[in-house]
Amino acid sequence: MSLSGKVAIVSGAAQGLGRAFAIRLAEEGCAVLGFDVKKEVLDVPGVTGMVADVSKREDVESVVSKASGMGGIAVLVNNAGTWRKTPVDSPWQQAIDDWDFIMDTNLKGVMMLSRAVVPFLQKDGGHIINLSTYYVLPAKSDGTNQPDTDLYNASKWALNGFTDAWAEYLEKDNVKVNGMCMGATDTPMLRGLFPTKQLPAEMASVVMKAEDIAGQMMDIIASGRTGENFGAWVGEEITIGVQPPLYKRITG
Ligand SMILES: NC(=O)c1ccc[n+]([C@@H]2O[C@H](COP(=O)([O-])OP(=O)(O)OC[C@H]3O[C@@H](n4cnc5c(N)ncnc54)[C@H](O)[C@@H]3O)[C@@H](O)[C@H]2O)c1
Repeated sequence: MSLSGKVAIVSGAAQGLGRAFAIRLAEEGCAVLGFDVKKEVLDVPGVTGMVADVSKREDVESVVSKASGMGGIAVLVNNAGTWRKTPVDSPWQQAIDDWDFIMDTNLKGVMMLSRAVVPFLQKDGGHIINLSTYYVLPAKSDGTNQPDTDLYNASKWALNGFTDAWAEYLEKDNVKVNGMCMGATDTPMLRGLFPTKQLPAEMASVVMKAEDIAGQMMDIIASGRTGENFGAWVGEEITIGVQPPLYKRITG
């Protein structure tokens, strides 16, 4: 399926991976609507920017209304994600506040935005890309996320449920649904894990680039594969690899 002239929506497009995805899709000929809670999204080259919060239903509906006015929607990248440190013995109120903050974006936002976009994708087929993370592929990961970001961790495991179910349900409409499960990629989120906002030297020398992950996204779209989590591993070639057997496609 050629993407030229088709509309792509990217959530969380102001910086990091979302910005790279939006720019790459625009370079591939898409009319891209990128949105974010940060106003920097208005300055992403080649991209129509919009300030909107994926955790708010009215914002989601405004985004999809604007995108549908730009042409036929063919790609949705559920990229916006957020995290906080919430150790399991932290205060109850903190845990409940962090739950709402993280899950409303990482899961409820994905659910709302996807539900709003799916009727458009069902017309001519298309692609949903869910931004997951490397540790949901335990057969390949050599560790887990930081243990004090357990709510973020849980949100990414839960995302698998959407990828898996939607891929199967939307197969009849030629809508492909996949997850991207990268390890450390140099973005403001990754830098935010460190007190100085600088990557430690040993990580800085191997960390992946958002532009390279955007290239992997284009390969996933071009492959026509669906219902998979695609890994990207620090220190290894970034590739979509050979298609694994069905029982290994989500968990590796
Ligand atoms: N960077 C990594 O190493 C890495 C690894 C695995 C997975 N991921 C995932 O990739 C995605 C992008 O991560 P990143 O590293 O570029 O993060 P980032 O924090 O640098 O960028 C995320 C963007 O999403 C926006 N955003 C957050 N909440 C939003 C909301 N409610 N509505 C709209 N926009 C919102 C932020 O303002 C920000 O611009 C996330 O889902 C993240 O969990 C990142």
